[in-house]
This record gives sequence, C-alpha cells and structure tokens, in this order.
Amino acid sequence: MSPATLIVGASQAGVQLAVSLREAGETGPVMLVGAEPHPPYQRPPLSKAFLLGGTDTAKLAFRTPAFYAERSIELITGERVERLALRPGTAEGSATTSTGRTLAFDQVALTTGARVRRLAVPGADLAGVHHLRDMADAVLLRAALDAARRVVVVGGGFIGLEAAAVARTLGKDVVIVEASDRLVGRSVAPTVSDFYRSAHERRGTAVLLGSAVARVLGDAGRVSAVGLTDGTELPADLVLVGIGVVPRTELAEAIGLHCDGGVVVDRHARTGNAGIVAAGDCTAMPHPTTGVGLVRLESVANAVSQAKTAAATLAGIPPPAPEVPWFWSDQYDLKLQIAGLSTGHDESVVRGDLDAERFSVLYYRNGAVVAVDAVNSPVDYLVVRKALGTGAAIPPDLARDTGRPLKELLVPAGPNRGTHTLDL
Ligand code: NAI
Repeated sequence: MSPATLIVGASQAGVQLAVSLREAGETGPVMLVGAEPHPPYQRPPLSKAFLLGGTDTAKLAFRTPAFYAERSIELITGERVERLALRPGTAEGSATTSTGRTLAFDQVALTTGARVRRLAVPGADLAGVHHLRDMADAVLLRAALDAARRVVVVGGGFIGLEAAAVARTLGKDVVIVEASDRLVGRSVAPTVSDFYRSAHERRGTAVLLGSAVARVLGDAGRVSAVGLTDGTELPADLVLVGIGVVPRTELAEAIGLHCDGGVVVDRHARTGNAGIVAAGDCTAMPHPTTGVGLVRLESVANAVSQAKTAAATLAGIPPPAPEVPWFWSDQYDLKLQIAGLSTGHDESVVRGDLDAERFSVLYYRNGAVVAVDAVNSPVDYLVVRKALGTGAAIPPDLARDTGRPLKELLVPAGPNRGTHTLDL
C-alpha cells in the first residue's frame, strides 16, 4: 500500500514538497498541515508590493483550492501540529494538532520554517512595535504605516531594508538602526553593504551602524521613541523590528532528531531518521558547494529546490540536480540579484558603475568564481548563475576588462577551449 505522508508546515517548502510528491508518482494520502488560517501564500511581496499597497491578500495565494483537490493533497489550515509520536525505530506514527485531531502517517516531512527573533529590551511589547514574517504581520504593519509619520527600523537585513524603502516611498521619516558595522552583512560583501547604505541615505533615510537599542519608550502604552545605548533617543510612532529569524526545530528535537542551528539534513534532505525529511528555512544543510560545515539558506529558492529533493527522497527516485543558490531583493528601483555564496571569497571584481546604481560584484575563491551580487544588472547575474551551474570559468583577469560584456568572457568547463559567448 502507498505510504501516507504528513507534511508539517504549509508554506513555500511544504507546498512544493506536496506537489513534487505527486509529480513523482506517489499515490498515497498526502496531508499538508499549516498553522496559519490562510491557504499557502507567497511571502516575498509582504515586504515589497503588498506593504506598498499594490496588491491584496487574495492575490498572494500560491494556488486555488481546486489545485490541491485535483492532486488529492489534503490541505489543513489553521491547525498547528503540536506533537509527533513515532513507533520506535520507524518514521511511522501519528501527529496531534492544536484542535485535538490525530493524523496517522507512514512518513513525515518537516517544513516548519522559522519565526522572527524578538527584540529583548524593555518596551518592546508596546503598541506600535511590529515584526514582519507572515501575512497577519503584514496586514497590521501596512495599516500602521498609513497612520505613521516617524518610523524606526531596527535591523538592516533584507526585511529592514525592504520595509524601510517602502516606508520612505510612502513619505515617512525613516531611521535604520543596525547593530553591526554594515548592512545586510549576512548576505552580501562589504562593497555592496556600503552601496546600500549610500543608496538609502541618498533617498533621505538615516542609517545608524554599530548602534544598539537599549529600550523602547512609550506614552500611554504606545511607542514614542527608541532609546539607544549611547543615550540617543529617536522619536518614533512606528518601530519595525527585522533582526533575523530562528528556525522552528521544536518538533524535530522532541522526536530526537539532530538539530544544530536548524534541523540537520544531508544533501538528500534526510534527517537522522531515514523516513523523515526536512526542507526550507527550518533546516541546516551541508554547504552546497564546498560540503564543508552546515549552512541555513533562508531563501525561496532553497525552499523550493530542497523540497523537490526531499520529495524525491521520500518517493525513492533520484534527486534533481542541485541548484545554484540564488536570492533577490527589491528596494526602491534597485533590484539586487545574488547567485552563489560569497562567504570565504578571497578576491572580487566590481563591474559597472556604483554611482549609476548599476553594477555587479563577482567573487572568487582560489581563482574560481563562486558568487555574484548584481544590482540592476540582470545579465551579469544570469551569466554567473549559468557559469556556476555548468562549471564554466570567468577568469578574474578577463572579468576586470569591464569594456567587454561578461557573457563574452566565459570559459566553458573541460579542456580549455577559449572564451565563449553565452546565448541567454
Ligand atoms: P537578517 O538575518 O537577514 O538580518 C537581520 C539584521 O539585523 C542583521 O543585519 C543583524 O546584524 C541585525 N541585528 C540583529 N540584532 C539586532 C539588534 N538587536 N539591533 C539592531 N540590529 C540587529 O534577517 P531579516 O532581515 O530579519 O530577515 C528575516 C528573514 O527573511 C531572513 O531569512 C531573510 O533572508 C528573509 N528575507 C529575505 C528577503 C529576500 O531574500 N529578498 C526579503 C526579506 C526577508
């Protein structure tokens, strides 16, 4: 008999996993359980178009109810899986949800995602202090932005910068408070951090680096200012906290799975229990290119590709070819596209014009290209992404010749066959 699969978590990874299981020919019951009341939806617009008011909640849904029904995917929303009980030595068992329902399964996938990290200072629970992770947060924040005049954004990562761009576009006074010495430090290299600082400042936002929040001050239960540890007080009627996320690993830990900054999985999305897979923001996986150390790739692209791999593992078919990691961020008219992972690079080449807000930075390790950060330079992004996927080289000395388009500088993998122009 075909196994019953329980997928815990109904967001990007969970939905992809369910769909990929069906595409792989699995015919057993598939239960996709999500704690949020809405059908699964896209998160990226929540800090971009949705916040700006350009789209409504219904348009964010991934799929219609009919889509799930046609594939016999049982979508259960508004119920949180609170407990998993396994028969010893197996991946079979039952789940108990927040409504007391019991769901029996033969195999299970954890796609539980991550929750926001909260600001742990006095006053952080005042009205007017917001976080942004899910649709409910975004609906509240969008309404609050309408009424706000002075916005303090705590955290200069992608959430903070995207939301700051929206707030400024809506005409608010905006201050970004970042604890470290540069913006988006987890994801981009210093040149790009510096660029984003200048870009936000040029558009009228104040950026405070190396600044720590000591308290949030209030008036009649509502935020009135943000107090920094150096004594500065920043007046605010809205505070957005975007200081990172924490993977949801509780269920995995409770059933004894190894967790280390996420549910630890291998290249096949397998946890320590062969019948249990995990995918998306809740996982820590081997570094996709070096294989050394564990990384947590918080991105839509990883959620999708890891979910496809997890589905193949459960279905017992070969996994799809690994994908080059990629990310994007939209702030004002600046489109940042990232391919590969730049951590550990020992050389970089800047092409284009930072002042014109159109450039790319190629990162190298031991002479081999490992990543690109491209701002308003989609062709450079595509060329490097393809090179990373095919093993083609873009020698740094050639890349420094910024007079020639990057796509003319590729050296295909294998015996040296000279440079080669890519058809995009
Ligand atoms: P993040 O981890 O990317 O950035 C958090 C920032 O807050 C860091 O710069 C950190 O140094 C700073 N920080 C930490 N504690 C602080 C404190 N107490 N005071 C001031 N600054 C502090 O996380 P972020 O931006 O909250 O995003 C959350 C998640 O959403 C991430 O997984 C992110 O990748 C994802 N996301 C991705 C987007 C994209 O790919 N375009 C867009 C929006 C969110």
